[in-house]
Amino acid sequence: MAVLAREFELVDEPAGVDGLLTTPRDRVDAALLDLARPRVVANFAVGYDNVDLEAATARGVVVTNTPDVLTRATAELTIALMLALLRRIAEGDRLVRAGKPWRIAPTFMLGRGLDGLTLGIVGFGRIGREVARLAEAHGMRVLATRATPLDELLAEADVVTFHVPLNAETRHLVDPRRLKAGAVLVNTSRGPVVDEAALVAALRDGHLAGAALDVFEHEPEIHPGLLELENVVLTPHVGSATHKAREAMGMLCVEALRQALVEGRVPVNSLNPEAWRR
Ligand code: GLV
Repeated sequence: MAVLAREFELVDEPAGVDGLLTTPRDRVDAALLDLARPRVVANFAVGYDNVDLEAATARGVVVTNTPDVLTRATAELTIALMLALLRRIAEGDRLVRAGKPWRIAPTFMLGRGLDGLTLGIVGFGRIGREVARLAEAHGMRVLATRATPLDELLAEADVVTFHVPLNAETRHLVDPRRLKAGAVLVNTSRGPVVDEAALVAALRDGHLAGAALDVFEHEPEIHPGLLELENVVLTPHVGSATHKAREAMGMLCVEALRQALVEGRVPVNSLNPEAWRR
């Protein structure tokens, strides 16, 4: 069996491969599919914007993803980012580490708790629904695009969080300036859903009170304007990064490859089962 090296140089030509296990940073396009000629691609992620599904289907390549097992981890990180931003946890950490003088005082480093805030959830799939559940447990009032028109949600929400897949319709989905003045924006979905330059402008002129981002438009590059701002919390695309979730994601990928290549059947979590050829 051929082995595919990390940066996609086929090191054992010309046999191609039977299966590929890819991550979101791997671009699975027609060129790669023609080079590697896999029968199945197991994408180690729930999002699959890195995969040209149409090209895969046209070549009879089945693609799988890893839903469900990372839902809690990603929703949890979303809440953690909200708290880190609104309770100024990352900012406080920077202050302490910088050795700046501080002492407890009635008005020192005041922030906002989640209780009583209105959360707007854009994208109400598995992760969006789990965020709603956890947010309600923190006393937030939840609006979601499933039931609330986007304009209404943006006009009311103190915190807007994104849980949509990246595709042509969701790229730069919401102009940050459409959020109400003083709102904060959270993104744990995909970077290009938010126009980063527009976000920096809305943060700089004070229209938005802050942002917490786990994903970036040109990942792993980060807009320099974001790095300068205290009211911004940044994490390196770690939504699903718990031992439990990552282990389960790996097992789903292995299972998908095994089902396709050993058992010769349509694998679990196929995104294009119609592409399966025995
Ligand atoms: C990670 O970003 C995923 O889509 O699972």
